[in-house]
Amino acid sequence: MLTHEEQLAEFEARIARGEKIEPGDWMPAEYRRQLIRMISQHAHSEVVGMLPEGAWITRAPNLRRKMVLISKVQDEGGHGQYLYHAAESLGISREEMLDALLEGRAKYSSIFNYPTLNWADIGVIGWLVDGAAIKNQTMLAQASYGPYSRAMVRICAEETFHHKQGKEMVIQYAQGTPFQRQMVQDSINRWWWPTLMMFGPHDSDSPNSETLIKWGIKTKTNDELRQEFINEMVADLTAVNLTLPDPDLHFDEASGNWTTGPIDWDEFWRVVKGNGPCNKERLAARQEAHENGRWVREAMAAFAARSPQVIA
Ligand code: 3HC
Repeated sequence: MLTHEEQLAEFEARIARGEKIEPGDWMPAEYRRQLIRMISQHAHSEVVGMLPEGAWITRAPNLRRKMVLISKVQDEGGHGQYLYHAAESLGISREEMLDALLEGRAKYSSIFNYPTLNWADIGVIGWLVDGAAIKNQTMLAQASYGPYSRAMVRICAEETFHHKQGKEMVIQYAQGTPFQRQMVQDSINRWWWPTLMMFGPHDSDSPNSETLIKWGIKTKTNDELRQEFINEMVADLTAVNLTLPDPDLHFDEASGNWTTGPIDWDEFWRVVKGNGPCNKERLAARQEAHENGRWVREAMAAFAARSPQVIA
């Protein structure tokens, strides 16, 4: 019988060897808690993330764009499913996670509390927001917890497609008519700062990073990922003559990085705490969808009670 210290040492040695931790394996309670916290927030983000884009399905300008958008929104629902399953493998139930979301106790990504005001927002969400998500999720595909890292591999493949369709749209509008250029620039102006906030608070204000990095859940810090994203996006957006809404943005020769002005963290925390532009609307939409699906859950439960062998 190993002591707690010996189990912890073996667990950390496995992570150091690059082995994946699987659901039945011994893990510290704090590792389990951190994963449930992070994966459930991530799952909620995917599902709430369907709302701002879903609002534009009926207004897509042509059939091709409509089909792409429907597929993308459907993919996000699927990502939520993989992630809820990954979290369930740690011993939390789907109902507990959904209750936390529907009662407003759970966090989900700040970015989905902003409104989609014009059609170009759909392209900008694909290029910027999904681009930021991929940067974070490519890292999480290396996470030490097996079910999370495997879910991330599949999700990243699909997100890459989302990213490409967004980039294609933005470049097309940036090179289009004066109206299209103005529409896409307006969209970049509104989404730039909230996208930078997606990566989370600065490292000095990130209470979870140290533990997550120690146990191989994250391998890069919030600021490292944000900086990589800024460097790539400044180059790509300026190449198509779009500007960024930051008078302080400059290239720092010493570090080789693009340096931005200060991020408005008061705005970030307002949004995270439920007081962003669309928090109440998003929660109400999820509550309504959950209520509308009640009859399906009840029918499934009744069917399972009558025909358990079919469900099994
Ligand atoms: N929105 C909402 N809450 C956020 C946040 C954000 N952008 N960034 C940080 N927070 C919260 C954290 O959850 C934490 O709250 P808690 O301790 O009460 O749970 C608090 O702020 C402090 O932040 P930390 O930096 O300490 O938190 P983490 O170390 O966990 O880092 C994270 C935050 C980078 C978001 C990390 O949790 C993570 O990588 N999560 C998984 C990926 C994810 O959830 N992505 C969301 C976007 S998914 C998406 O965009 C879908 C795609 O289809 C577009």
